[in-house]
Amino acid sequence: MIEIKNEQLFHLYNEKISYIINVLPNQQLGHVYFGPSLGTLAPFDQAYLEKKENKSAGTVKFFEADNLFTLADRFQELPTYGTSDFREGAVSVFEEETPLYVDFKLVAFHCFEGKERKLAQPASFAAADESQSIVFELVDQERQLELAITYTIFKGSGTITRQQTLTNTGSKPRTIQRFLSGVLELKNRNFELLHLSGAWLKERHIKTVPLTQGTISVGSLKGASGHQHNPFVALKEQQATNDTGHVYGANLIYSGNFLAQAEMDEWDNVRLMLGIHPEHFSWQLSQGETFEAPECLFTFTAAGLNGLSQESAQFIEKHVIAPYWQKRQRPIVFNNWEATYFDFNEEKLLTLAQESKALGMECFVLDDGWFGKRNDDRSSLGDWVADPVKFPKGIGSFAEKIHAMQLQLGIWFEPEMVSPDSQLYQEHPEWVVKHPYERISVGRGQYVLDFANPAVVEAIFEAMQKVILETKLDYIKWDMNRNITEAYSPYLAEQGISQTEFYHRYILGLYRLYEKILAAFPTLLIEGCAGGGGRYDLGILFYSPQIWPSDDSDAVERLAIQSGTLLGYPLSSFSNHVSAAPNHQVGRATSLDFRQTVAMFGPLGYELDLFHLSEAEKQAIKSQIVFYKKQRQLLTFGTFYQLQQLDHGNEKTWAVYDPQNEEALIAFFRVLAQANPTAEDFLPVAFLDGQQVYQVNGEPVSGQLLRQLGLRKPYQFNAVNHGTAQVTGDFQSFVYQLQAKKGVE
Ligand code: GLA
Repeated sequence: MIEIKNEQLFHLYNEKISYIINVLPNQQLGHVYFGPSLGTLAPFDQAYLEKKENKSAGTVKFFEADNLFTLADRFQELPTYGTSDFREGAVSVFEEETPLYVDFKLVAFHCFEGKERKLAQPASFAAADESQSIVFELVDQERQLELAITYTIFKGSGTITRQQTLTNTGSKPRTIQRFLSGVLELKNRNFELLHLSGAWLKERHIKTVPLTQGTISVGSLKGASGHQHNPFVALKEQQATNDTGHVYGANLIYSGNFLAQAEMDEWDNVRLMLGIHPEHFSWQLSQGETFEAPECLFTFTAAGLNGLSQESAQFIEKHVIAPYWQKRQRPIVFNNWEATYFDFNEEKLLTLAQESKALGMECFVLDDGWFGKRNDDRSSLGDWVADPVKFPKGIGSFAEKIHAMQLQLGIWFEPEMVSPDSQLYQEHPEWVVKHPYERISVGRGQYVLDFANPAVVEAIFEAMQKVILETKLDYIKWDMNRNITEAYSPYLAEQGISQTEFYHRYILGLYRLYEKILAAFPTLLIEGCAGGGGRYDLGILFYSPQIWPSDDSDAVERLAIQSGTLLGYPLSSFSNHVSAAPNHQVGRATSLDFRQTVAMFGPLGYELDLFHLSEAEKQAIKSQIVFYKKQRQLLTFGTFYQLQQLDHGNEKTWAVYDPQNEEALIAFFRVLAQANPTAEDFLPVAFLDGQQVYQVNGEPVSGQLLRQLGLRKPYQFNAVNHGTAQVTGDFQSFVYQLQAKKGVE
């Protein structure tokens, strides 16, 4: 998978992609190509791939020895600002106030196989026969810095990853001001930057911005990857469709402040960069110290947006999600939040649990309000001991009763937070993120704990461990409901460490807590959450295989949220709950059938008041759960396709396909009814096998017909077919089950 020519040209490739790196005349790493696989290049002519001339006579020349050479228009693997390239660079280092115009020259490289999974820091991993890596060692002799960049190519994957470290080998301290994790340089091909943006309750909506000369960026400065933007971005040819066109995806395995930006220069060269946001960040390196940047992923597909979605999903499910949870069945949960909010006691919960069990659910998740004296969101965070009024016999006794019903138990924690009205805050006011002389902002009535302080992480671990042991806990819902303001760690101040390191050290502290919990309880299922989807990223998914994607549980809103999320993340990574109608966030009333059909794509749950269901609703839930259990593998781990254009506001069609068993489940959703619709009557299903005959809801249809003409959309109500319409009115869904006939014989 790695070809090397004359120690000057490096070709990482598999059957899907090729990535070529070269050595520039100044010994820096250059970039030649990333795109469809080229197969082996041998016998190749290195000179053929080299740039012969510079673009413009007006550019600043870099080297006296060869005054034809400039970096101005060169594709580089780690560009730096301050020499003959005037675009933004990926690395910037200072000696006190003085900028160092770093110049990294390649001195050595080596390859290795496989990539170990280490709980200490989230990163991709692979078995020995699944990946090959190359490490480039680069040195800036004069400024006494060493840079190591590791690229990994994976068997059968369109994704390559990149990890890099910077070491100070000199005696004078160095300050890193910027160290972005990944750079991808490409010629513009009519690209637009695709990103997933939104807000609380409307996370990860798909946005596209055409590139133009200049810079477009998204990012977060909230101390978390955030609701507003997501580290997953893509460069997509404007003409790309669901199934065709070149698309380059990028992501970071990181949960904190990030920047993703695309800069296009005067020659239509595009520089895509991702990494820790340089705003409010710098890191001091003393002699011998090393800084490691979060890992960055780049994905290529020639198969449009479905290709991007599938490449991302496949990579994350194989190389980021914990091996224990890969392809492992996720429980159908009942979560009491929207059913009770803070108004519950043990008795009420047990009745709900019984009812959920009777309907076929498998895990009871006790949400916020079980600890301290928390009857609203103004107190007790940090006091992880059950409320004796709500649980007179203790949380252990409650857990036993839940387990006795043959239900798993999940419990909500918000480990990184503390309420001013809590025992923890009374005992340790110094454990809070708080500037000594400035105001302290309060979000949702709570403070953020100083996770840069190892003693805080340790104390929270001890408290959580106690509850996990006492309840023999199966599942944690790990929430984080406010962002960081006035970032200041009393601990770092005491240690003489700069506050500009706080945000990153906080995230390292968070990862340390995950590591400790999972080292002690390796099979615990953790569901990530941050006021819904405020920290939906690969750092969290490395530890918790699923994330609550949004506090908006309205099925119509979820069509957009889930469609956006699925471009960069797998189906198995987000949980969906069927909630009440009218919905608590937007007040919309939709049918139970519609809500269940939206929620079944991925891990399923219910979050509604089971006491007020009619018998008919109970029956509908029961039979939906029976159906879901039969289709669970397909709905959680199947290959996902969008069958309609993503910008279609009124209709979505989601398909999951299992190529082994040649079966598919396809759901058509229509938001609003239309009079005399002009829409197509058929939905082509290009992924089916043209040689096959499929049973479509029991009726045989030729595969070629389904591929070319398509699946007949459900009949809609109009004036003439009132009696036979399959979907009428607003908020409708229709499910098709497809099975290759040979599969049923
Ligand atoms: C956040 C979560 C919700 C719920 C509440 C509890 O908003 O996203 O699902 O757990 O906190 O306070």
